Amino acid sequence: MKFFIDTADLTEIKEAASWGALAGVTTNPTLYSRIGGTLANFPAHIEKICALSTGPVSAEVVGELRSDIIAEGRELAKIAPNVVVKVPTTIEGLAATRALADEGIPVNMTLCFTVPQAILAARSGARYISPFVGRFDDISEDGIEQLSLIVNAINNYDWTNVGVPGEQVEVIAASIRSVQHVTQAALVGADIATVPFSVLRKCVEHPLTTNGLSAFAADWEKVTKA
Ligand code: G3P
Repeated sequence: MKFFIDTADLTEIKEAASWGALAGVTTNPTLYSRIGGTLANFPAHIEKICALSTGPVSAEVVGELRSDIIAEGRELAKIAPNVVVKVPTTIEGLAATRALADEGIPVNMTLCFTVPQAILAARSGARYISPFVGRFDDISEDGIEQLSLIVNAINNYDWTNVGVPGEQVEVIAASIRSVQHVTQAALVGADIATVPFSVLRKCVEHPLTTNGLSAFAADWEKVTKA
C-alpha cells in the first residue's frame, strides 16, 4: 500500500515528504479553506504542492455540471504534470471523467461510497477511486467493510486501457481518521491510503519504540568507553 498525505498544508507536505515514504498528496476544498486559502491563490498553491510532491497531487473541481468540471479539470491539469483532477462521483462527474480521461488527464473520483459507484467510476476512466472510510463510520456503517467490498470488486476485473492508456485504476482509502483505519486499509488491499498528517505521524510513533530507544540509550551509557 502506498501512502498519500491528505492535506493542503505545505509545511505538513514538506515534512512528510522528507520521511522518504510519501507517494502523493490529496486535497479538497475543505482542506484548502482550512489553511486560509484564497480563490486567486489556488492555482499557485497547487503548483507549490506539486513541486513538493514526488507523486500525484489531487486538486478538486468545484463545478457540478459536466461542462464546468471538464473546463476546470483542463485548467487544473495545466498547472503541473503531476496534477490529478479530483471529481465527485455523480452522473455529471462520470461524464466529465470520461471526457478528461480521453484527453489523457488522470482523474481521482471522490466521495465514492458503494461498489456500483466505484465500478462506474473505473468504467468511466478514473485513474483513482476514493472510498471515504470515516464518513461511513460517521453514519454508523462499517467504512472498512465498504472499502473491502470496493477493493474486491475492482480487483475482479482488468482495467487496462479503460482510462488513461497504460494505467490501471487504483483504490485510495480516504477519509482516514486513525491508525486502525490505516492497518485495516492495508489488510483489505487498498492500493493507497491518503492520511492526515497527525495520523501519519501516529503511524510511525509507538510508545514501545520510544521506550525501547530510551532503554537502549541508557544501557549504551553503561558500556565501558575504552
Ligand atoms: O480524502 C478525503 C478526506 O479529506 C475526507 O476526510 O475526515 O473530512 O471525512 P474527512
